[in-house]
Amino acid sequence: MSELSTKHLLGIKHILKEDIELIFETADKFKEVINRPIKKVPSLRDVTVANLFFENSTRTRISFELAEKRLSADTVNFSASSSSVKKGETLLDTVNNILSMKVDMVVIRHPAPGAPLYLSRHIEANIINAGDGTHEHPTQALLDAFSIREKYGDLEGRKVCIFGDIQHSRVALSNILCLTKLGAQVAVCGPPTLIPKHIDSLGVKVEYDVRKALQWCDVANVLRIQLERQDIKYIPSIREYTNYFGINKAMLDGLDKEVLIMHPGPINRGVELSSDVADSDHSIILNQVENGVAVRMAILYLLASKNKV
Ligand code: CP
Repeated sequence: MSELSTKHLLGIKHILKEDIELIFETADKFKEVINRPIKKVPSLRDVTVANLFFENSTRTRISFELAEKRLSADTVNFSASSSSVKKGETLLDTVNNILSMKVDMVVIRHPAPGAPLYLSRHIEANIINAGDGTHEHPTQALLDAFSIREKYGDLEGRKVCIFGDIQHSRVALSNILCLTKLGAQVAVCGPPTLIPKHIDSLGVKVEYDVRKALQWCDVANVLRIQLERQDIKYIPSIREYTNYFGINKAMLDGLDKEVLIMHPGPINRGVELSSDVADSDHSIILNQVENGVAVRMAILYLLASKNKV
């Protein structure tokens, strides 16, 4: 495959295994570029990208901005907290006003699941979902899978367990969809109240015992408890969560194998992951962040290439 099957990146659900492989092959090349003394290529010259963030972000936002700069795109950044959204403007009006300034691509993070899909039905620009509520976070899943592939060569048969708040996590859903498309075996582990009821339909194993889950997996992708998305109490207290589901060095030392530790960030140190694990040689958390730039460069480049044909 030499081009993506889709004009937008709305979710992993909407793309093919071949799309993912093409993104990875392209990201390999961009990773070489960003490790050169001169990190910039002219691939997106004269392309304008709007980064529309209706929800907080550190990694995704900076990563997209850097990816766009490395590709020589022109960028505009929008933050809902300092915009006319506060005065009651609709999402479509906001975006159409920005697009009338001749914007080609839109990167959007929004608290409403489906906001990127909704936009893609109403506007011409390429849409990239940078996280929509509790739904999907496709670029995170792609950089996570890319980082596992970088470590092990491929994902076929690899055992990946996602720990934590699966119920409220867009990273969990996108990871499950991405990893299973690539042939990995996937498990989830967390309190029963934070495991969605429909999880069986996604073809994943469910484990409630952290030690058993760690013994099973090659890779532990650890998520944080999303307190901001919990309208009722799903766990008695953070301390109890840490006691039952937190991962610490003693647990890893007790295994008869090595487990690769991942986390999409932001980490709640001492809650889901102890600092001596987050900062250990087992951890590839900062490699994930580095790979995010190359993977997002690949996505921007491949979507922009589709506009030329
Ligand atoms: N992983 C992730 O989405 O982090 P941010 O919320 O900081 O973008």
